[in-house]
Amino acid sequence: MRIPIIGGNWKMNKTVKEAVDMVEDLKQRVGNIQDVEIVIFPPFTALKSVGEVVKGTNIGLGAQNMYWEEEGAYTGEISPLMILDIGCRYVILGHSERRQYFKETNEEINKKLKVALSSGITPVVCVGEKIEERRRGKAKKVVEEQIKDCFKEITLEEARRIVIAYEPVWAIGTGETATPEQAEEMHLFIRNLLKDLFGEEISQSLRIQYGGSVKPANIEELMKEKDIDGALVGGASLKADSFAEIIKKTAEISKISSSLRSKNE
Ligand code: 13P
Repeated sequence: MRIPIIGGNWKMNKTVKEAVDMVEDLKQRVGNIQDVEIVIFPPFTALKSVGEVVKGTNIGLGAQNMYWEEEGAYTGEISPLMILDIGCRYVILGHSERRQYFKETNEEINKKLKVALSSGITPVVCVGEKIEERRRGKAKKVVEEQIKDCFKEITLEEARRIVIAYEPVWAIGTGETATPEQAEEMHLFIRNLLKDLFGEEISQSLRIQYGGSVKPANIEELMKEKDIDGALVGGASLKADSFAEIIKKTAEISKISSSLRSKNE
């Protein structure tokens, strides 16, 4: 059974104080949730302070990006060692905003992925097509290329620890969510690709999150789909009330589906 994972990607938002206030509040609201893996991805500047607040709780800490070298003359970059040192156990790699604005390539994401895995950091690898690619009927082709290129030379053992986030670029920050059917179709496509790459067992155990305008009002319908294992939430993760609601609704759906499964067994 795949434990759902809900991530809050704060992007370039919040001062240290705002970040700490938000997680103090979030901790109160979701401290007793057990059926969902919860991770927040604050900006680098707030990681240390937020890390102190979530230490020993059910809220994990992640960075929004990292470089692939451990140290050296790379002005402005942050290394895997540095994010580990500050308490991060997760990292987002290849977010579409990094691909779009900072020209990150699949090849670079692959280098980062290898280093994240060898450093013991859980990577959340983002894939997703742009609107013109979907309109031209190229969505699956683009996602296939991203998956194959980002996952080059990853061993079976390493693959087990990867989380994937399918984030159609046209749904990010636009208020326009993919329909549950559109999302499920792509998630199943991704799972089948993973089966070709890593085999049946690993493909069934890997978690694929959906991302793009996820909010309390649409999380349930998305989570009901068979191959959607959680969400990577942007805007709605900035406030404790809406993010907590998404987490609680996910926990409810996960409880219902596991009790249905045990009845059928
Ligand atoms: P929104 O939820 O704001 O659309 O952002 C999604 C996202 O990019 C998460 O990584």
